[in-house]
Amino acid sequence: MKIIQAKDYQEMSRVAANIVSAQMILFPGSVLGLATGDTPIGMYRQLIEWYRKGDLDFGKARTVNLDEYVGLSTEHEQSYNWFMRQHLFSQVNLLPHNIFMPNGLAEDTAAECVRYEANIRAMGGIDLQVLGIGHNGHIGFNEPGPVFTKNTHVVTLSERTLAANSRFFDSGERMPRQAITMGMGTIMQAKRIVLLCAGESKAEILSRAVLGDIDPMVPASILQLHTDVTIVADQAALGRMSMDELSANGVEVVTERE
Ligand code: PGA
Repeated sequence: MKIIQAKDYQEMSRVAANIVSAQMILFPGSVLGLATGDTPIGMYRQLIEWYRKGDLDFGKARTVNLDEYVGLSTEHEQSYNWFMRQHLFSQVNLLPHNIFMPNGLAEDTAAECVRYEANIRAMGGIDLQVLGIGHNGHIGFNEPGPVFTKNTHVVTLSERTLAANSRFFDSGERMPRQAITMGMGTIMQAKRIVLLCAGESKAEILSRAVLGDIDPMVPASILQLHTDVTIVADQAALGRMSMDELSANGVEVVTERE
């Protein structure tokens, strides 16, 4: 595991965008695993800027997203499909037939999970997976629980996640209670993983994920077992881990230049 320490959110976003764009320059046909949430927005903004300058080409790339709410149409402004169109898809030259997201309106959600998982396999797996981390340690919508669920599955959202995300829904509107998410096996089979984390409020959970036991109650802790994980985090998010602890745990830390 490697940590790149960025000064602030902006620098975290630029470093993450650099990693994604290096992947695309070396392997234009890469399968990119993408994430939603506040954290990756700055990275998407940077990627769009480079695309507009002519430095990046998404024409051969394929994307798969981590998750989607059950029951929201793609036209609902809180759907992750909407989010991705807003923050990336509508602004770069990704081809629509190369974009894959779970269908939150599928009548048979279990069958949709099987289909989604099989599609990722058929593409040869994910080359680079971008992740955020929830305050409860979730990645995708893999919530804390007794086990690490392996494949794409339907999940009932935890109270913590509902509380964190309910602010985005209109008052009176019922927030979805379930989501379809890639499983931990799906994520762990990605060839490379980059996890973004910003802000003091994430410092505690990031430290448990990086230095704690590998525990399904802290889902992101399983990333300790992956051989190619880079965490790009700002100083605030790294505030609960000392250099000594990190090096004792075999974590390499790279500090971005000022
Ligand atoms: P955030 O969400 O980027 O909005 O903090 C991260 C997550 O819940 O995975």
